[in-house]
This record gives sequence, C-alpha cells and structure tokens, in this order.
Amino acid sequence: MEDSATIRIGNDNYDLSIITGTEDESGIDVRSFRKQSGLITFDDGYGNTGSCESKVTFIDGDKGILRYRGYPIEELAEKSTFLESAYLVIYGELPSHDQLQAFRHRVSAAGVLPESVASVIEAFPQDAHPMAVLSAGIHALGTCHPDKISNDRVKDLAVFDESAAIIISAIRKIAARHHRFRMGLAPVKSNPEKTYCENFLSMMFSKTDNGEAVPPAVSKALDLIFLLHADHEQNCSTSTGRMIASGGANPFASLAGAVCALWGPLHGGANMAVIKMLDEIHESGDDGSRFILAAKEGKTRLMGFGHRVYRNYDPRAKILKGACDSALEALGVSSPILDIARHLEEVALQDEYFIKRKLYPNVDFYSGIILQALGFPTDMFTVLFAIGRAPGWLAHWKEIAESGGKIHRPRQIYQGATERVYLPLEER
Ligand code: CMC
Repeated sequence: MEDSATIRIGNDNYDLSIITGTEDESGIDVRSFRKQSGLITFDDGYGNTGSCESKVTFIDGDKGILRYRGYPIEELAEKSTFLESAYLVIYGELPSHDQLQAFRHRVSAAGVLPESVASVIEAFPQDAHPMAVLSAGIHALGTCHPDKISNDRVKDLAVFDESAAIIISAIRKIAARHHRFRMGLAPVKSNPEKTYCENFLSMMFSKTDNGEAVPPAVSKALDLIFLLHADHEQNCSTSTGRMIASGGANPFASLAGAVCALWGPLHGGANMAVIKMLDEIHESGDDGSRFILAAKEGKTRLMGFGHRVYRNYDPRAKILKGACDSALEALGVSSPILDIARHLEEVALQDEYFIKRKLYPNVDFYSGIILQALGFPTDMFTVLFAIGRAPGWLAHWKEIAESGGKIHRPRQIYQGATERVYLPLEER
C-alpha cells in the first residue's frame, strides 16, 4: 500500500498521507485537506468515514470477522463470560483471576439502586417505553454520584473504575425495577451472591421479594446474549456516546445519550421489530413469502437482515442461531416463530435481491427469539441490548477521555436559503 495519496482539483494537487491500522485497513488522512484546499469531504451517513482511531473492536465485514481486543467472538462466546468480556473490552486485556474477582466484586458491591433513581423510574407513566426510562434512569444515577460527574476528563477518569462498575451494576437494576413497577409488582432485592445474570433474572421475574433460584441454562443463555453485544466499534449509539464524550461530558451522560441512539428500529430497536414481523407472519398464516416480496418491492424491510458493515453473515447471528435450539430445549419451550425465521433466512439467502445487496441475518435476527423464550416482554429487548452494550460504551468513553482528543464537530454542505431580508409580520 502506498503511504500517500494525491487529490487533483483542476491544476492543483493536494498531497495527503495514508493511515494504516494494525489489521492493514487503510484510509486517506483528510485532516489537512480543508486547510490546503478550502474544501471539505462529503460522506452522508459516514459510510466511508473513519471518525477515530480505536483499539477496542475489529470488524471485517466482508469476511464476517468480529474480535474484541483481538480475541475472536466465537472463542469468547465459547469460553468467556459477559463480565470477563466486559473487563476485556473496557481495560484491553483478559483479566487475571484476581483482577476478575476484584471487577466482579466492584460490580456486585455497587449497592442498591438509590431511592431517587427509583422515584424517577416510577414518575414515568406506567406504559412508558423502557428505553426512555433507562436513559433517564442513568442520568438520575449519575446525579447520585456528584463526585463522578464533574465533566472534567481528568477527574472523571480518576474515578472511572467505580463509575463503570456502578453503571454496569445499576443498568440491569433500572431495567428490572421498571419492569416490576409497570407489572404492579414489588421490587426484588439485588443479591450480590448471585452471578450477574442470575441476579438480574431474579430481580425481573422472581415471584417472591427475596428472589428465587434461576436455572443455570437460562442465565447462561442471557449471559451469551450480553457477551455478543458487548461492543461493535463505531455504530450509531457508540458514535453518539463518543460524540458526547468528546465534548468532555461524564460517562453517565455519554451512556444516557447512547441509549437514546440505540432505541431506533434501524439500530438496537430492530430486535423488537424482528419479533413483531415474525409474529405478524405467524398470525397471517403465510410462510413469509409475501413479506419477502414486500421487502423486495421496497414496501418494507426484512428486519434483522442487512448491516452497514457486514456484507457477509454477521458472526453473532451465526452463534445465536446455534444457541436458539439449545436455549429453547433447556427452557423446555417451543417457538413457532423460530421455524418461520429459519425459513425466511433460507429463502432470502437464495434470492437474487438479497444476494446482490449482500444482505445476511444480523445479530437481531435470532436474539429476540431467545429473549422471548426467556420471558422478556418484547419492548424490553432493546434495553437488554443496552445492558450488553454498556461495557463497549464505557470502553469508548475511556478511550476518548484518555486520548484527550478534540471535540467532534462534523461539517456540512449547506443547501438552505441564501441570505434574505426579514419582513415584519404585518408585511408577510
Ligand atoms: N430488507 C430489504 N432490503 C434491504 C434491507 C432489508 N433489511 N436492508 C437493506 N436493504 C436494501 C435497501 O433497500 C437498499 O436497496 P437499493 O440499493 O435497491 O436501494 C440496499 O439494500 C442498501 O440498503 P441501505 O439502507 O443503503 O444499507 P445501509 O447500510 O444504510 O443500512 C441497515 C443498514 C442495517 C440500516 C439496513 O440493512 C436495515 O434497515 N436493516 C433492517 C434493520 C435491522 O435489522 N437493523 C439492525 C442492524 S444490526 C444491529 C445493530 O448494530 O444495530
């Protein structure tokens, strides 16, 4: 690969350097281009823009590769746990035994949900969307720790380990507390003796105030889902979190914003949309052919299919497809929509429309089926995505804070009205 590039505009040449990453991914460094030429580069939707250098996650979308800090997702899914992978994503290395113990302890010792956060959760209408409540809950949580939201990078970094543990611990408590509130049920106490997922499932679904035992297969299935969502480089929500962090805001603010960005159906909200789509197909008695036709005609989208980065099978979808069978068997439930999903995938992968556009199942295609079987209400699926993604958002906040980089501030090509004269109201 050359180490420089030249852009020619008319008779003028502009020399730009090439920046190369550790996996040989290269890009043209345009940072000096505006200064040299007076022009900006235009890339609507950032499909061809590298917004930062990062060491957290590597994706090769053509080959279907995903690695956290160099470790293949397949190997982590088989051998690691959510909390161990969270540590890896945030701190860059697999923890030693003692480091993992200390991290687990920090998370489990992060304490009960402050009453003021519970009050915020319960101030929302009972039918409020859980993503709105989650974002507000994280903000409220930050305000309970004024020493951790100074919005001074150096100070916030000094207490980052505690902030990260508080957020990772509390995010599932906010989710569970809201679920119980809207179901009209009393909250269940957190039990730090339980594993991360057992404790969460118990706070969600226990029939008694003190929490009941959770079958290991159930908590294992959820742990896998969280692990697979832990990071995914510069996606919409992570870029939002980084954008907020770049202005110097604290980790709580950065994560509350990332939660909002995740909410949309083209991003984290797709896991809800997949179940809605599969349920509709199931209820209509169609085998999915009509839905595929509508997607090809541009009337709808096959939710859980396609990805901005993957032009191949999303490796997380492959793992979850395999996990569906074992999870459903362990839970002793059957899912009629799993057969529909498999059929849709088979048909789509042989259809010229999907082949030509390189549209494959993404992480959301199978995750919702497992979450539904675990008993989570559909509108909580994106909250579960957020719980899994929290370590990634925190890792990116840390990366920005440590780099001390500039505020993120894209440019635009203005296409609005040119200068006009203001007419007083009576003359309009
Ligand atoms: N069903 C039917 N057609 C599709 C789909 C789909 N799911 N996705 C893309 N296309 C078509 C699209 O209509 C366009 O066709 P044409 O070239 O004829 O105009 C072409 O494929 C390229 O689409 P695009 O919108 O330019 O692609 P993108 O990279 O901007 O969008 C995406 C990526 C994920 C938003 C999109 O594939 C999509 O909307 N998928 C469904 C929603 C979904 O499952 N989202 C979850 C993403 S994975 C989890 C996460 O990281 O958030």
